[in-house]
Amino acid sequence: SRVAVLFGGPSGEREVSLESGRNVLQALQAQGIDAVGIDAMPGTLPEQLKASGAEIVFNMLHGRFGEDGVVQGCLEALDLPYTGSGVLASSLAMDKLRTKWLWKGAGLPTPEFRMLDADYSDWNTLVAEIGLPMMIKPIREGSSLGISKVKSLEELPAAIDEARRFDQVVIAERFIQGREVTAGILEGQALPVIRLETSREFYDYTAKYLVDDTRYLIPSGLGEVLESQVQELAIKAFAVVGCQTWGRVDFMVDGDGQPWLIEINTVPGMTSHSLVPMAAKAAGIEFGELVRCILDAARP
Ligand code: DAL
Ligand code: MG
Repeated sequence: SRVAVLFGGPSGEREVSLESGRNVLQALQAQGIDAVGIDAMPGTLPEQLKASGAEIVFNMLHGRFGEDGVVQGCLEALDLPYTGSGVLASSLAMDKLRTKWLWKGAGLPTPEFRMLDADYSDWNTLVAEIGLPMMIKPIREGSSLGISKVKSLEELPAAIDEARRFDQVVIAERFIQGREVTAGILEGQALPVIRLETSREFYDYTAKYLVDDTRYLIPSGLGEVLESQVQELAIKAFAVVGCQTWGRVDFMVDGDGQPWLIEINTVPGMTSHSLVPMAAKAAGIEFGELVRCILDAARP
C-alpha cells in the first residue's frame, strides 16, 4: 500500500522537516516501497492526502501543526494509520510546560521552572527562585528556536521578548550545569546515549544545523551505570507522557551524575546531522532499517 511522507509544513522547523522528510522518502523508495511526499499545509491536508491515494502516513513534520497532535487528529478522522505517537501524547510532548508538570507529578527529575504569562515582570523573585543562568523557552517550539540562556537579570526582558515571538506562554527553567545528552527510543527500547559538545552556550539551532564543530559522542562517556540510568529514565519519561513507537528524550546530567529531563521530541529530526539516526547506527541499525521499523509499527 502507498505511503505518504508528510514533510515541510508551516512551522518554524519547516526547513529541518523538509530535509528529514526527503531522507525518509528516499530511504523508503530505495527499498521498493511505493512512497510519495506531501508538503503538508493546514486547510489542504485532507485533500492532499486523498489525492495521493496513500493508505498509510509516515509523519516527518516537526513543530506545531505536525508534531503537536493536530495532524494526528486529522489522520484519525481520515482513518489513516500513521507513524509515531497519538493525539494526546503529541500535544503534551510539544508543550514543554505541561510535559514538565506531568513529570513532576510522576516524581521524575526535571529542572525547577516557572511559567511566565504575558504580564509577568517580577524579575527579582524569578532570579531568586530559579537562579542564574536560567533558560528562557517558548513552551511549544522545536530545534531550540526562541530559546536563550540568560546569565544576568538585565538580559531577561529581551530573552522573554524573543521567546514570545514563538509562543505567548514562556517558561524560565533552571540551567543545569553539566553534560548535555540524549536518548533515542525505538520500539520501546532506548538507543545508545549520545553526548553533545558545542562551543556555543548550549546546543542551539546554530549548533544543531548550521556549524560543523558540534561533537557527537557515542559512546557517551557517561559510563555504563549512568548510561543505563539515562536510558531507563528516558523510557519512563516517554511512558508517562503516553508516547509511542519512537522519539527522543533530551537530558542534562549535572556534576553529581544526576540526569535531569528536559523534553521529549515525538518526531525527532532525521537529517544528516540528526541524533536518532546516529544512535540507531551505533546500535547497528542502518537508516533504511530505522525508517522501516518506524513504518512497520504504524501498519494496522
Ligand atoms: N525538533 C528537532 C527536529 C529534533 O528534535 O530533532
Ligand atoms: Mg524539541
